[in-house]
Amino acid sequence: MTAPSVAPSVVAGTGAEEAVPARSPALAATLPPPLPAVRRLDLANFRAYVDAHLDLDPRPVVLTGPNGAGKTNLLEAISFLAPGRGLRRASLAEAARHGAGPLWAVAARLDTPGGPVALGTGPDPDAPQGSRRAVRINGAAAASQTALAEFLTVSWLTPQMDRLFLGPAGDRRRFLDRIVYGFDPAHAGRVSAYEQAMRERNRLLKQGMLDDAWLSGLEQVMAETGVAVAAARGDVVARLRAAIAQAGEGAFPKPDLALAGATEGALAARRPALEVEDALKEDLARRRRIDAAAGVTTDGPHRTDLHVSHAAKGVAADQCSTGEQKALLIGLVLANARLLAADRGVPPLLLLDEVAAHLDAARRAALFDAVLALGSQVWMTGTDALLFEALGERAQWIAVHQSTLSPGPTASPPLA
Ligand SMILES: Nc1ncnc2c1ncn2[C@@H]1O[C@H](COP(=O)(O)OP(=O)(O)OP(=O)(O)O)[C@@H](O)[C@H]1O
Ligand SMILES: [Mg+2]
Repeated sequence: MTAPSVAPSVVAGTGAEEAVPARSPALAATLPPPLPAVRRLDLANFRAYVDAHLDLDPRPVVLTGPNGAGKTNLLEAISFLAPGRGLRRASLAEAARHGAGPLWAVAARLDTPGGPVALGTGPDPDAPQGSRRAVRINGAAAASQTALAEFLTVSWLTPQMDRLFLGPAGDRRRFLDRIVYGFDPAHAGRVSAYEQAMRERNRLLKQGMLDDAWLSGLEQVMAETGVAVAAARGDVVARLRAAIAQAGEGAFPKPDLALAGATEGALAARRPALEVEDALKEDLARRRRIDAAAGVTTDGPHRTDLHVSHAAKGVAADQCSTGEQKALLIGLVLANARLLAADRGVPPLLLLDEVAAHLDAARRAALFDAVLALGSQVWMTGTDALLFEALGERAQWIAVHQSTLSPGPTASPPLA
């Protein structure tokens, strides 16, 4: 089968994402700046979608349909409007429709407080297969996908994240780092510079180079970027803690947050950053033999953990019930969204995959109130439209069936 021509053309910039006209000045003067919302979405060869097109208004979007219909795939497409590997942490090749070649495209027109913007992304057709994600902004190629963070923060909750408090520290660290990107778009570049230097150091150590000046250079980069990464994490966790402490008691329990990492700890103890940088560099140099034997870098900011606990109960999140863990996570995601709104004036797009199904009616109503109060567009999925009945006309409804989209809920019996 030949690929739909929109896939390469969107990436090449001749497709759906040309520059969007700004609102007329007279209209703009009378209205508050719009909050982030997807107004048009086009997919080509993305997952099970051959192509799909949606015109939307700023209200919350409710996606309903049976298992395997394509609800999570649609949220994943939107998650690619932010830097990174999307909500499934997929490779570019995995997101391409089976049997349709390596190229896919997601294009969107969005409202943002800075004005309308057209974003397009997909594997770069000119780069070796799957090696680079191309990004176009208002029709022009962006140097890197980190440019997306200037326009939009996308935050999500998926069923896979139910194990966030029980699983490896890396999952919680990545969760935190994504939160930090929302406050400091340069954080993503620093994290990847640190990881790149670390991989190179690990490679040299595996080759038995223990005293090379090249290693010192890499350790210097790791110390500089590592301390910057740790400082940004510490700053955001402190702000989140303060925002959570100030908020009233709501339907979702307050999470207590703490960072567990030597570098973060040293910065929290107010040691000067340069001193912490030197200490990290010395520590890395001292550990060369240990790390060579282990085949990994055994300590550093890439090992930091985010400890979460249920503040009212004083119990670590991993010791809480399944429902309590889910509620803590929702509380954390909402706290982050509110803090972004307060600090940067721009709440994130929120993607809530199968969240409503786990909540009782009172908590579901509280969630709906919270997302409506946030004001940015929130996408919610479920197999049962009745779960979202309380939203009624306050949301827009899309039925998903075998990767085709149509307006209205799929509920049976239909909603009153
Ligand atoms: N690269 C791909 N190419 C083609 N189909 C794919 C690809 N990746 C996933 N799929 C298929 O897409 C379908 C829809 O998946 P999706 O996760 O979006 O369903 P869902 O509506 O969220 O279902 P559930 O309610 O079970 O969570 C699945 O049947 C899956 O096998
Ligand atoms: Mg799903």
